[in-house]
Amino acid sequence: MPGYGMDRQLEIRDAGGFLAAVTAEDWARRAEAALQPGPWGYVAGGAGAEATMRGNLQAFERWRIVPRLLRDVSVRDLSTTVLGTAFPVPFGLAPIGVQSVLHAQAERLPAAVAGALRIPLVLSTVSSTPLEDVAAIMGDAPRWFQLYPGTDPEIVESLVGRAERAGYSALVVTVDTTMLGWRPRDLRTGYLPFFSGEGIANYTSDPVFQARLGPGASMAATVQLFLRVYANPGFTWKDLDHIRSVTRMPLLVKGLLHPDDARESLVHGADGIVVSNHGGRQVDGAIAALDALPAIAAAVAGRAAVLMDSGIRCGADVVKALALGAQAVLVGRPWAYALAAAGQAGVDQVLRDLRADIDLTMGMAGLRSLAEIGRGALARADG
Ligand SMILES: Cc1cc2nc3c(=O)[nH]c(=O)nc-3n(C[C@H](O)[C@H](O)[C@H](O)COP(=O)(O)O)c2cc1C
Repeated sequence: MPGYGMDRQLEIRDAGGFLAAVTAEDWARRAEAALQPGPWGYVAGGAGAEATMRGNLQAFERWRIVPRLLRDVSVRDLSTTVLGTAFPVPFGLAPIGVQSVLHAQAERLPAAVAGALRIPLVLSTVSSTPLEDVAAIMGDAPRWFQLYPGTDPEIVESLVGRAERAGYSALVVTVDTTMLGWRPRDLRTGYLPFFSGEGIANYTSDPVFQARLGPGASMAATVQLFLRVYANPGFTWKDLDHIRSVTRMPLLVKGLLHPDDARESLVHGADGIVVSNHGGRQVDGAIAALDALPAIAAAVAGRAAVLMDSGIRCGADVVKALALGAQAVLVGRPWAYALAAAGQAGVDQVLRDLRADIDLTMGMAGLRSLAEIGRGALARADG
């Protein structure tokens, strides 16, 4: 019996209490203090008026958990299996690109923490650390690879093949970033880390990319080539078929908000969907991910895995997302803020605290296992 919640409360008290940061808001404040305006805007900002970014959080406010009491909740099981990957808790780490702008050791630190806790990590295509190095840190701990399906099919194939050989056990194809959203904070500061060669380690370490570039290329030429190949506004279902055909890994499509796109993904061989609006960074005014979830879960009807992200901040959020049809969720900004503010110890704290919060929320709501979390556990806040 994991007992994550009470164990964590005791651990914190034994350590002398007083943590400088506990909630996602605490970590955001600390990250803002630690970072220059450019990187802070990059991690905290969204598209346009940031209405969707705010809406992602507000959507959770419209649902309330209805606890059931006097059930024996002394044994609780938070584990599940998604597409063959064991999740000890119903969340993984969302792909966050360009972590070198948050911490000099970038992806290495979340990889070490997630690996030790065996919480699945989704590595971004645009990581600052080559995918093989992250795999070496994680050993046999579970990890998935996120792919930006770019314009060069041979580079895409090469990245997918490398991920498979390095022990990533699922491929998450992000389809909502065929171009970068209109992000006023980044535009105001003139900040785009790719221009200074940040976040392109999977490309500079790739043999096909290197061959395209030729020997002795300057950083400017390297960045130019990267910018030409990494995103693909012409991406269609046919290109998804190609990706499907080059790997045996289970394939998830990330960034869907419409049930018809979820249905179509299944026709094209997807094994899972990640309902997401990219944390409000792409289409401002887009529907909140939580609001899109029930219709997508109904459309998928158990034929594929359904995950969601965008707005998960605490244990109650995870329970609500599961009750509305997700098998698991991905967590993004909270641990990214902690990485910027406190490095490895910060990420470790965020993941352990979220795990404890989910455990306590489930137990006190009378939910002993993920299977017991259903629509009946919720009521609309407005009746
Ligand atoms: C700084 C930052 C970088 C991101 N980079 C990527 C990425 O490289 N690939 C990807 O699929 N999603 C990326 N995302 C989106 C996340 O995977 C996830 O969808 C989002 O963070 C969820 O929103 P939340 O963090 O507000 O809960 C990024 C998000 C942030 C905040």
